[in-house]
Amino acid sequence: MTVHIGAKPGDIAETVLMPGDPYRAKWAAETFLENAVCVNEVRGMLGFTGSWKGNRVTIHGSGMGMPSLSIYTNELIRDYGAQTLIRIGSAGGMQDDVKVRDIVLAMTASTLSTPSSGIFRELNYAPCANYELLSAAAKAAATRDVDTHVGGIYSSDVFYDERPDLVEQLARHGTLAVEMEAAELYTVAARFGRRALAILTISDHLKTGEALPSDQREKSFGDMVEIALEAAFA
Ligand code: ADE
Repeated sequence: MTVHIGAKPGDIAETVLMPGDPYRAKWAAETFLENAVCVNEVRGMLGFTGSWKGNRVTIHGSGMGMPSLSIYTNELIRDYGAQTLIRIGSAGGMQDDVKVRDIVLAMTASTLSTPSSGIFRELNYAPCANYELLSAAAKAAATRDVDTHVGGIYSSDVFYDERPDLVEQLARHGTLAVEMEAAELYTVAARFGRRALAILTISDHLKTGEALPSDQREKSFGDMVEIALEAAFA
C-alpha cells in the first residue's frame, strides 16, 4: 500500500490506462476487461485490474489536474512497477479542423508549469510521448471511423481560463487541444524511463463553443480505451 493507493504488491499490472474520472475507470474495466477486480478505492479514486486478450491491465483514475495525476503516476511507477501509462481523457479543441468527437494523440504537451517544473529551474523542458506507443496508437486509430490528429497539445492548470491571449498564441503555433494532465504524465514517465501517451477525445471546442452531448461521450471514451489497449500490446 502507498499513501494514496490501497492495492497490494502485485495487484497493479505493468500496463495502466488512466482516465481522469474514477467512474470511467470502473466502466472501462467492466466493459473491456475480463475478470476485473477493484484494487483501489482510497479517497474514491478507483482502480481495477483484469485482462484484455490475455494481457494484464490496470485501469486507474488519475483525478483532474497535474498535481493529482502526479501523485498517482509516481506511486504506480515507484511502488507498483508500472511500465506503460496511457492517459485516456477529454480535451478542448483549439484548431478549426480539430472537431468535437475527433481524437487527438498528444505528441508533445506544452505547459506553463507542472509539479515537476521546479527540477528544471529556468529550462523549458519539452514533455513528449513515447514514440512506440504514439505510432501504434496512430495505426490503431486509422482502422476506426474517427478522425484522428497527431500533434502538440497544451496542458493547462485551469479549466476556466483567464488568459485568452496565451491560448491564442498556442493555437497560432499549431497547438491542437487543451487538457490538464499530459505534460506531467510525460515528465514523470520520462524521469523513470517508462512509456507514456495521452489519447484525448475532443469534448468541447474553444473557438466554436460546441460541446459533445453526454449521450455520445461513452462511445468516444470506448474508442479511446480500445486504441489504448491495442497500442499498449502492439
Ligand atoms: N478538458 C476538456 N475540455 C477542456 C478545456 N476546455 N480546458 C481544459 N481541459 C479540458
